[in-house]
Amino acid sequence: MNIPKETYEISDNVHWVGVKDWNRRMFDRLIPLPEGTSYNSYLVQGKNKTAIIDSVNPGFEQEFKEKINQIIEIEDIDYIIMNHAEPDHATTLSEINTISNAKILTSEKGKELAKEIHHIDSKEITIMEDEETIDLGGKTLRFIDAPWLHWPETMLTYYEEEGILFPCDFFGSHMARSQIYAEDIGKDMVMKLAKSYFGEIMMPYRLKANQAMEKLEKENIEMIAPSHGPIHKEPERIIESYKEWSSGEVKKKVLVPYISMWGSTEKMIDTLVHTIASEGVEITPFNLATSELGGLARELVDSAGIILGTPTVLGGSHPQIQHVTYLASRLNPPAKYLGVIESHGWGGGAVNQIANMVDRLDGEVAGVVDITGSPTDEDLKGVVEFGKEFAEKIKSIDI
Ligand code: FEO
Repeated sequence: MNIPKETYEISDNVHWVGVKDWNRRMFDRLIPLPEGTSYNSYLVQGKNKTAIIDSVNPGFEQEFKEKINQIIEIEDIDYIIMNHAEPDHATTLSEINTISNAKILTSEKGKELAKEIHHIDSKEITIMEDEETIDLGGKTLRFIDAPWLHWPETMLTYYEEEGILFPCDFFGSHMARSQIYAEDIGKDMVMKLAKSYFGEIMMPYRLKANQAMEKLEKENIEMIAPSHGPIHKEPERIIESYKEWSSGEVKKKVLVPYISMWGSTEKMIDTLVHTIASEGVEITPFNLATSELGGLARELVDSAGIILGTPTVLGGSHPQIQHVTYLASRLNPPAKYLGVIESHGWGGGAVNQIANMVDRLDGEVAGVVDITGSPTDEDLKGVVEFGKEFAEKIKSIDI
């Protein structure tokens, strides 16, 4: 029995034909997906031609094809638009290409990656230059070159007549919901996940994201239909947020990723948190023993200060802190000031190791507290002093 699958007409003859991955909990074996994700694909039908924009993750081919076939025979697709070559959007395109013989349209680098990663024959692919258009018959699709969002080949597709932007990963969020629009889910919830997503995926390339935002300034964007998460019918808030996040503007707040083995580090972090909060500066302690990394990535997007808290173990920092320090140094957060709080039993080592790991970060190392044994009142006074000085630096940032 052929049970109908949900598709949505988001504009006249523009259909969402994506899938929801409700149970996925990890992306790239790295990024946590507490709310699952979706792989959004869009079918755009003009009077003369039909295009499909991006596709779905391997494993969902059957559902995807059934959805397309509910609207149009796959054989009748004329263009396959590959905004991005990553397998969650591009693997299934070659199957659609085999059935339909449709031309695959992508960037120059996209052509290379389609060949390397998906083994698609070059003759199936037509390179779309920046600002080049195709006319589907009353529907014009324009391609906007926007590399490094977050792979080198990325481009955006803009449906001119209705002002709909199809940016693939850009403006996305990892969440599976039965609702298709951000406005029906609740903007605060969507923006929270969109910010984590930006931190995890786009922040390492925020200069490129910033350039893409500048390029989009001239467009009249009425709707943003990304390839993960909900569609933005009212795109102003996500656009303004992306401008802010990609600019590297910070807020006067401090993020404190930490872990404690026997409570000494925790005691110092607790003192630090009270001190900095008392100075009127926002501070978020982030206990790595109990928190998920999406929240950390979200806070890294605009925190002016980062203070790492760790015990020394096996002659270095705790492995959880090493993991987070390594990630933070690669995610390219805009933090201006860094600090370390360390406790050890008989021999230190964590501070030097962290100092070597944060050398890729732009922030200035504003202070270190390093104690032996469990913290005494005198040690905690040192933490208070450090906290006050750190808060002062954050307050003095010219924003
Ligand atoms: Fe959703 Fe970069 O793939």
